[in-house]
Amino acid sequence: MPGAIFSHPRLALVYDAFDGDRDDLAAYLAIADELGAERVLDVGCGTGSLAVLLADGGRTVVGVDPAEASLEVARAKDPTGRITWIHGDATTVPALDADLAVMTGNVAQVFLTDDDWARTLRGIHAALRPGGHLVFETRRPERRAWEDWAADTAPVTLDVPGVGSVEQRLAVTDVSLPFVSFRHTYRFLADGAVVTSDSTLRFRDRDEVGTSLAAGGYRVVDVREAPDRPGRELVFVAERVS
Ligand SMILES: C[S@@+](CC[C@H](N)C(=O)[O-])C[C@H]1O[C@@H](n2cnc3c(N)ncnc32)[C@H](O)[C@@H]1O
Repeated sequence: MPGAIFSHPRLALVYDAFDGDRDDLAAYLAIADELGAERVLDVGCGTGSLAVLLADGGRTVVGVDPAEASLEVARAKDPTGRITWIHGDATTVPALDADLAVMTGNVAQVFLTDDDWARTLRGIHAALRPGGHLVFETRRPERRAWEDWAADTAPVTLDVPGVGSVEQRLAVTDVSLPFVSFRHTYRFLADGAVVTSDSTLRFRDRDEVGTSLAAGGYRVVDVREAPDRPGRELVFVAERVS
């Protein structure tokens, strides 16, 4: 089940505002160009920020996400219906013969169990054409991002168009590696409503991800930096080989 931050209608509506400039997405568009990808599957597409940019480039795009409230936001960005939006996850996507599947925004970390992760890799494998690529990022565990999150307790208040002022707080609630849990609390100043969202992420290291990809029928072609977050991320470029 996706967290409230993605699945609660009031939180999905303010997600993009708090997510800020998406400096991370240019690198994924460049990789799609580099690989000559025309058919792209965006797994965990959320509010559709990357899917829309991919479609703007003339690509055929399918976005899948289990959070209906986020998909509602995504559909609103696609008024002419260029993109196929699927409410589900990688295991519910049909065989698409996709050239490329992507997971941005550290979606790979939401899969907490080995089974969930393996099922996701299998679902993506079936959606890709032979020789198609899977590209995704995951935070480097050794960079210990949760320590920065725990240190930065200042609330952030934004004026969100159509919603009004919203205050966001983030608190790390548990670190039991490889799992890190945290709580977002949102206060909507217009009516005083408070909505919380609890999340847990799994931090996998480079070897663990590499091993799981090999077991899932992929060859790791490259592990790159995220240009907008140097030293923080592992960006895997894997090819479907079987
Ligand atoms: C941090 S957001 C990233 C969204 C989007 N990729 C982006 O870059 O803006 C994580 C997304 O993963 C989705 N998610 C959660 N569980 C999932 C699952 N089992 N399969 C696919 N996506 C999932 C959430 O609903 C959410 O939209």
